[in-house]
Amino acid sequence: LGQKIHYFEEVSSTNSIAKEIAASEEEGALVIAEIQKGGRGRMGREWVSPHGGIWMSVILKPGIPLRHASRLTLVAGLAVANVIRNMGLDARIKWPNDVRINGKKVCGILTEAKAEVDRVDYVVLGIGINVNMDLKDIPESFRAGSTTLKVELGRHLRRVSFLQDFLFELEQQYISFKTQPFSHILNEWLALSDTIGRDVKVTTPSRIIEGKAVGVTPDGALIIRKADGTKEEIIAGRCIYARP
Ligand code: BTN
Repeated sequence: LGQKIHYFEEVSSTNSIAKEIAASEEEGALVIAEIQKGGRGRMGREWVSPHGGIWMSVILKPGIPLRHASRLTLVAGLAVANVIRNMGLDARIKWPNDVRINGKKVCGILTEAKAEVDRVDYVVLGIGINVNMDLKDIPESFRAGSTTLKVELGRHLRRVSFLQDFLFELEQQYISFKTQPFSHILNEWLALSDTIGRDVKVTTPSRIIEGKAVGVTPDGALIIRKADGTKEEIIAGRCIYARP
């Protein structure tokens, strides 16, 4: 991965560029930018992307059914969490895709896929990591729930080394994804997730589901046990912990 890198000073969104070029690009090509002016988060939210972060999109062509594309979000989250943990920080994953340190978000992942019938043509893994920013670089409305690697480590990081370590780790996980049963990745993901066992409130475009997070399905859907004892699987949504 990352054999070919498209580097930009400023873009609207690396995911948008990656989607435009994905059809003619080889697997593993990367779009990366210093700043994004129209960075996109999940569920139509804005993603603040000033100087100092790593804003990138990786083009993958795994040839999987579309319903498995969300598994790659877990693969990417696991890779980011592992690299941050190797630096000595206690990174945890909040379902589906937030990597957090001490309950504060340091990375978000936006997976977008294009499929022909049920096979994916490509998957764009959009990964945003708050690296060398200070908290003042993050707008006040986002600041409370966010952190950066610089803030957590108390020092500036070499983004190029971080990127190299990350791409190496992502590639290992991606190979495992393609060659091993998905339960391998899922078990590693579960070990780093702090969502299972919590009381949660999940908001989807159509409704709100409250209950206890009791597991994740092989496709990465969150399993919630509601107060009446029935279970529900939610493939995408915004998850809030009832207690911090
Ligand atoms: C989220 O947590 O809501 C997902 C955030 C994803 C942000 C990354 S930054 C690189 C890529 N380009 C985008 O516009 N978004 C993703």
